[in-house]
Parts: sequence; structure tokens; C-alpha cells
Amino acid sequence: MNRDLYQTGFGNEFASEALPGALPQGCNSPQRAAYGLYAEQLTGTAFTAPRSHNRRTWLYRIRPAAMHTRFVMLERGRFHNHFDEVPADPNQLRWDPLPIPATPTDFIDGLETMAGNGSAAAQCGIGIHVYVANRSMQGRFFCNADGEMLIVPQQGRLRLATELGVIEIEPQQIAVIPRGIRFRVDLLDSAARGYVAENFGSAFRLPDLGPIGSNGLANARDFETPVAAYEDVEGEFELLSKFQGRLWTAVIKHSPLDVVAWHGNHVPYRYDLRRFNTVGSISYDHPDPSIFTVLTSASDTPGTANIDFAIFPPRWLCAENTFRPPWFHRNIASEYMGLIHGEYDAKAGGFVPGGSSLHNCMTGHGPDAATFEKATRSQTSQPDHITDTMAFMFETRAVIQPSRQALESPQLQHDYIECWQGLRKHFDPQRR
Ligand SMILES: [Fe+2]
Repeated sequence: MNRDLYQTGFGNEFASEALPGALPQGCNSPQRAAYGLYAEQLTGTAFTAPRSHNRRTWLYRIRPAAMHTRFVMLERGRFHNHFDEVPADPNQLRWDPLPIPATPTDFIDGLETMAGNGSAAAQCGIGIHVYVANRSMQGRFFCNADGEMLIVPQQGRLRLATELGVIEIEPQQIAVIPRGIRFRVDLLDSAARGYVAENFGSAFRLPDLGPIGSNGLANARDFETPVAAYEDVEGEFELLSKFQGRLWTAVIKHSPLDVVAWHGNHVPYRYDLRRFNTVGSISYDHPDPSIFTVLTSASDTPGTANIDFAIFPPRWLCAENTFRPPWFHRNIASEYMGLIHGEYDAKAGGFVPGGSSLHNCMTGHGPDAATFEKATRSQTSQPDHITDTMAFMFETRAVIQPSRQALESPQLQHDYIECWQGLRKHFDPQRR
């Protein structure tokens, strides 16, 4: 099995087999599949979705996905989709990183719901979670029927063993696990921390480029899908399913990662954020942050995304006579940000790797006082090189409602709003 190989490309049809000839030629569902495998189709969009948006994969597996005991609902934990427990909050909010747990905690047990909007039932919106873990998932597997999962590691490498093969990611790489794909998360380091966007809406895809042209931002050739790698293992395992905001558990007597061959485009993939081709101004001003969009989940309104996943990577700033950091702003969109690496150029402190911030619809925010004073005095005839940074944003059209547990978290920075209170009054009607 080629566990370390990846296929490249995005949005096309992929095919992979771990045994020669396991993948049928021509016919998707032969009367008898090779090696005694079962054929099973997994669809991620309506059968009749336009070809350019249609996602489905054919799986050739040792046992069909229906083989497990009845699912039983689990007590609600800290990973959930209850976004209406407390009133939506218009305040600027910021959190310190969650500490790495002291007790054995795997990826699923370590998921902590921070915020969200919409619902799995409505098939729109986002669940925003952070995770902390110190051990691999042992004897259990997870499947999310509610949405696809965009995983953004901040600390520690992850090995995502999925039905379609293995993906390894490290901080500054991301992975997307499509809705319905079963997987297990192994830790490749002693501890792991990061962020998850649970996308209830249409699948993430690359944004259109418009006048930018046929290249730029995240390039299709840099997205990697795994090759087929199956586990032929029997035993007593747990299959966890997230269904309509709740976790359900069943017993499965074999590894569900038993797909020997597959073809399709409803597939997990990874992308290295350091490959992002950053586009910006070479004269004055800077474009809206949509220029930093890596992936977008479309809504029913053209041009208005359900979710945009944007990043703020290392880059040159060269706009002349321009306030170069992100400007002060209030948006109709709502913004949840995280920091993967280094420092973020709009804040002099307080926003650290693993931390989060939330600026909701029409909530004023922007650079803190120290950053403003520095940027208004800097020499803009010379370029600035921003290095050692990687921040990201989950931006949504709907208000992002923090969870009760996030607002009651000891990591919530109650003094965050103070970072703007030191902004001095510069106005002088006598001095232009
Ligand atoms: Fe913002």
C-alpha cells in the first residue's frame, strides 16, 4: 500500500486502487467486483447537481457501510451545534489557546465548540470548534453526516486515516474531510491543537478568480488527495456518527477503513497554506480581504458565501502613502479568526498562536492603538516584508453565535476591548 503517496489536482475525477485490478473498468457496479469486494456509492451532492458541482465517489470495499449495530445517542458533550443557548454577542471577543489536556484525550473528545450559525438541518451555516488532544483515537472511528470538516492544525501533526486513504498534515497545512467519510485521527506528536470549521452548506471549492485570471490564490495543482489504503482488521470497534448536531455510537466488528479501490470526486484532500499565491496592491490601498480566500462555500445568493476560508500569510506590503495594516472596519459579514503561526500584523499583542477572536456583524474593530501609531508613522516609500505569520479567518454571511461554554471559558479575554481605548484623538481643525 502506498501510504505516503498523494494524487494532485482538485475538482476533477480521481481514481485509486490498493490492489491491481480492484477498480472496475467502465462499469461502476459490476455483477461481481474483483477480489470479492462490495461496490458502494457515496454521494455528496444531489444526483442532479450541475456537473461542475456534482460530488460522488464509488467505493470498492470489504464490507458495505451498513454493517454495524444500531446507533445509540450519546449524552451531549462539549462538541455540539447548540448555537442559540445564549444571546448572540455584539462585543469584540478574543480567547487564549485552550491548554493541552492532562488526561488522555483524543481528537473527538478534545473538540470544543466555540461558536456557529445555521444548522445541519438547514444545510447552511458553520460550526466552529477548537481541538486539543494528546493521544490517537483508539479503537474508534468518526463520521460526520452534518457537514464536511476543514481541519486547521496549529500544533502537532495529524494522521487522518480515512476510507479513501491516509492524509498527514502539519501546522500550516489544512485538510478537508467531506461529509459522510469515515475516519480516524492519529497523533504524530505528543500533543495537538487546532481549529475545525464544520461546513453545513455546500462543499468548499476554489473561488472564481475573475479579472485575476487563470492563476493565483490557491492553485488547483497544489491540492492533494490520498491514494487507496485499506485496513482488513476485525475486532470490537466504536463507530461514532455526528447526526443533526448530536453524537451517536454503534459497535462495528471491523475497521470501516476497508476501501480497497475508489474513484470519484467526493474525496478528502490536503493543501499547504504556504503554497498560497498572495495577490495584493502594487500601487496604493489594499484590496478587501476576499483577495485572501483559499476556499469558499457558496450560499444560494450569488457572490455571498456561506463560508469563506481566508488566510493572512507572509507577504510584501508595498502600497505607497497607504495605511498598510488591515484598516478599521465594520462588516455585514462576521469574522472568526485564529492564529496558526507567528504574529498577526494588525495586533501588537494578545492574539497568540492557538487563540481566537470573533468580530460579528457591524462590530467595530481593526488595528490596536500601538499598531495604529506605528503604521501611521512608517516610511511607505519602502516595502515591508511580513514574515513568520499565518493567520486565518472563517468569514460567514450570518452572525456567528458564540457558545455558552466559549463565553464562560477561562480563556476568554475580558480586557480585549481595552486594546482600542488607547487610540488618541488626533483631530485638529487648524492643522490639515
Ligand atoms: Fe475584520
